[in-house]
Amino acid sequence: MEAALQVDPHTLKYLGDMQRAQIKQIVITQDADRPWRTMDYGMNIRDSTVTLYEHPFAMGAMRAAYYFFDQSNPPCLMIAKQFKQESSRTRENYIAQARTQALVAWMAQKFNVEENSAKPIRVIESPIMRIVHNGNEVLYNVEMKLNGGTFKKWINNAGHISKVDQVLLRFTQWTYEYSCGDIMVVDLQGVETDTEYILTDPAILSRVYGKYGQGDVGSAGMELILRGIEHASKRKTAQSLPLSQHPPR
Ligand SMILES: Nc1ncnc2c1ncn2[C@@H]1O[C@H](COP(=O)(O)OP(=O)(O)O)[C@@H](O)[C@H]1O
Ligand SMILES: [Mg+2]
Repeated sequence: MEAALQVDPHTLKYLGDMQRAQIKQIVITQDADRPWRTMDYGMNIRDSTVTLYEHPFAMGAMRAAYYFFDQSNPPCLMIAKQFKQESSRTRENYIAQARTQALVAWMAQKFNVEENSAKPIRVIESPIMRIVHNGNEVLYNVEMKLNGGTFKKWINNAGHISKVDQVLLRFTQWTYEYSCGDIMVVDLQGVETDTEYILTDPAILSRVYGKYGQGDVGSAGMELILRGIEHASKRKTAQSLPLSQHPPR
């Protein structure tokens, strides 16, 4: 389900000619000393020209991932993600995804410093891209292409830890402690290089079911994860822990 289709972008067909796009980046405007609960968000908007590929190269549980060329200077191969279900393709859902990723990126920076992490965690940003195709507005979340390793998912939003990694387990636990139990960052996925973890598409669980989007399975989810982490710490070699009760995101 989550596996990349490993499609070579050079063999794919373009959706059409170059299109004008507007890319909105969500930025956190406050300094690192203020508490996360009072987070201020701002927006940077830039115009670009893009060429999208017709077919996705990978499918997640919720979204299809496409390659596209951002023709800005210098031109760059990037990823555009679209919700698979038409009813989910709302402006709010794309903004929520971009905000979640910005907040988790901010938390990861704090974690790297406060915990003096053996290997730092970097969460990439996922701005909102708007194009007009055949007269209709189409939205995506866009990201840099992750290189330097195989795309892996270490922990999902339901306590399932498929690959035990002490730094990442600690990050999830730390987000819970740091927020005094208000939230927990899960769905840790991306690539691991020699020098860092580069993550995308994290989810936030909170005390209020659904507050941080469709992957937020609430307090029950946080408890499952804590149990999963405890279990994994006891059995460091465990490859798979059968704790999943919610469908993975
Ligand atoms: N930035 C990226 N670079 C390369 N591949 C990616 C990137 N983001 C996602 N993918 C691939 O696309 C798949 C689906 O993306 P993901 O963001 O996990 O969607 P979903 O929201 O459905 O979970 C991933 O499992 C991975 O194989
Ligand atoms: Mg995913």
